[in-house]
Amino acid sequence: MSPSQILRPVNLFKRMLKMQSSLKRMKDGESVIDPTSTVGGGVGDVYGEDRATEDHLVTPWTVSVASGCTLLRDPHHNKGLGFTERERDSHYLRGLLPPAVSTQELQVKKLMQSIRSYEVTLHKYVAMMELKERNERLFYKLLIDNVEELLPIVYTPTVGEACQKYGCIFKRPQGLFISLKEKGKILEVLKNWPERSIQVIVVTDGERILGLGDLGCQGMGIPVGKLALYTALGGVRPSACLPITIDVGTNNQKLLDDEFYIGLRQKRATGKEYYDLLEEFMSAVKQNYGEKVLVQFEDFANHNAFELLAKYKTTHLVFNDDIQGTASVVLAGLVASLKLLGGSLADHTFLFFGAGEAGTGIAELIALEISTKTNVPVEEARKKIWLVDSKGLIVSSRKESLQHFKKPWAHEHEPLSTLLDAVKAIKPSVLIGTSGVGQTFTQDVVEAMAAINERPLIMALSNPTSQAECTAEQAYTWTEGRAIFSSGSPFDPYEYNGKSFIPGQANNAYIFPGLGFGLVISGAIRVHDEMLLAASEALASQVMQEHYDKGMIYPPLTNIRKISAHIAANVAAKAYELGLATRLPRPADLVKYAESCMYTPNYRSYR
Ligand code: NAI
Repeated sequence: MSPSQILRPVNLFKRMLKMQSSLKRMKDGESVIDPTSTVGGGVGDVYGEDRATEDHLVTPWTVSVASGCTLLRDPHHNKGLGFTERERDSHYLRGLLPPAVSTQELQVKKLMQSIRSYEVTLHKYVAMMELKERNERLFYKLLIDNVEELLPIVYTPTVGEACQKYGCIFKRPQGLFISLKEKGKILEVLKNWPERSIQVIVVTDGERILGLGDLGCQGMGIPVGKLALYTALGGVRPSACLPITIDVGTNNQKLLDDEFYIGLRQKRATGKEYYDLLEEFMSAVKQNYGEKVLVQFEDFANHNAFELLAKYKTTHLVFNDDIQGTASVVLAGLVASLKLLGGSLADHTFLFFGAGEAGTGIAELIALEISTKTNVPVEEARKKIWLVDSKGLIVSSRKESLQHFKKPWAHEHEPLSTLLDAVKAIKPSVLIGTSGVGQTFTQDVVEAMAAINERPLIMALSNPTSQAECTAEQAYTWTEGRAIFSSGSPFDPYEYNGKSFIPGQANNAYIFPGLGFGLVISGAIRVHDEMLLAASEALASQVMQEHYDKGMIYPPLTNIRKISAHIAANVAAKAYELGLATRLPRPADLVKYAESCMYTPNYRSYR
């Protein structure tokens, strides 16, 4: 305690005088409740005890070897009841924990029981996030061991609701907030993050969160969730992951009017102001973490997403999950579905509903795959692919008014304004929804697909569930059980005419953790489109006959770590082949190497 914090005799004397005068006034029948007194119901500090310390500067500090309460409060090392008797002795934990000692497995069992008892999924999300802040290894063990059940909690669809209510859920910072206020100081802000060896950054500006639109600063739930999957599904160490939200304001009036909103209370900065901040951010990232840190752009609105990707892909290791990750996972599903549909990709016709980041990103990768496999120019391959946006079929007569990323898809055709007309005219074998608008694959549309195709392939990719273009049930019933269906958000298995169908989930979570891990373990310095193709092929190769028999075109998520290791190995192999890998020499068996590098959340023993 500093000398100035000790109550001096003179202060005590003053207080005694004050108490004597109060007593005298009490005797005289006068009310003695001092309006500033905390005792009397006010908030003032009548005894001056708080003021005795509040003016004095203190230094927050912590010891480097955690023990006792500090150890229990450190999520990286806390094991709760998992601390052994010996650890409780040697780390001053005796008495701070109840006597029982649990195995990590028993802790998982208990937590799953408690999470299942919540009826509201958002409560499950909050429980998971609290666990992450309390006991990191247990959080990851829980997630890995129960991936199918918990993925929809920490990721889409629940994470969408969590972002909408992030202002209320927010308790502790889980990532870095970089706002316009930090302009000119971003390098310093990065240095505030406690971890130094960052390998993967997921960054959003919150402008297009899932299909929910502009959630401003509250988009932070997305990078946090995605990085949790990088660790759980891909094996990147949690300490190497950094979630970042760039706050340039929001155009969401509801948030601006919300007194609990946690972000900058202004309309979005655009143009030079926006790009200057992003430029400072990207330079600071490279300066602080070097050339090999992966920056994943997440949920940026398409007017910035394409530009940022084009701008930084030649100078940084960047990847846009909405454009490239989605493309890669959808392509994997298409390649896998050829076993059910027959023919090659080039034999099919594709129609997209929605021509934004996801739609055009997928379309481009399909064209690239067709071009690579058939040796036709990519411009030629694009002719098999058609897109519909909010103004109808994208055709050459609209070219002048189209955004640049839609122009390559403006083929010769008469204008058509509805999706149904487009289906009837183009006769696609594959219909892909990336519009962000729910219930737009109407019965007419799905029946038209079923009339043209023996096995129509229907992908309703918009998230969250409420925005899906159609449900699994609708796809199966309207096609009399002939559809091959997959969606962005999960749907339960559906029984039609006594046959059980398992809808595939074209979930980016299949690809980005393995892809990112492949880049990390090979020390890649740039992302190349061929690496996306390599990731798709690795994923498609993991679909087995038993899965096809159930109508699945994606393998079950329960095997995701094995799948991620294969994807990582294929991506790393491509990085070495293209001369973009810096971790030398190249390991002989890349799958084994990837598996050996993966983070496992089992408890470690403390000395
Ligand atoms: P975006 O905003 O870039 O594109 C949306 C497109 O849909 C635009 O071309 C727009 O013109 C079109 N559109 C909007 N309303 C329409 C209407 N009523 N009729 C026809 N077209 C309409 O958005 P982005 O990034 O492409 O995402 C779209 C959806 O895809 C979102 O719901 C998102 O959650 C989902 N998505 C799903 C993924 C997955 O399942 N793996 C991955 C990425 C995105």
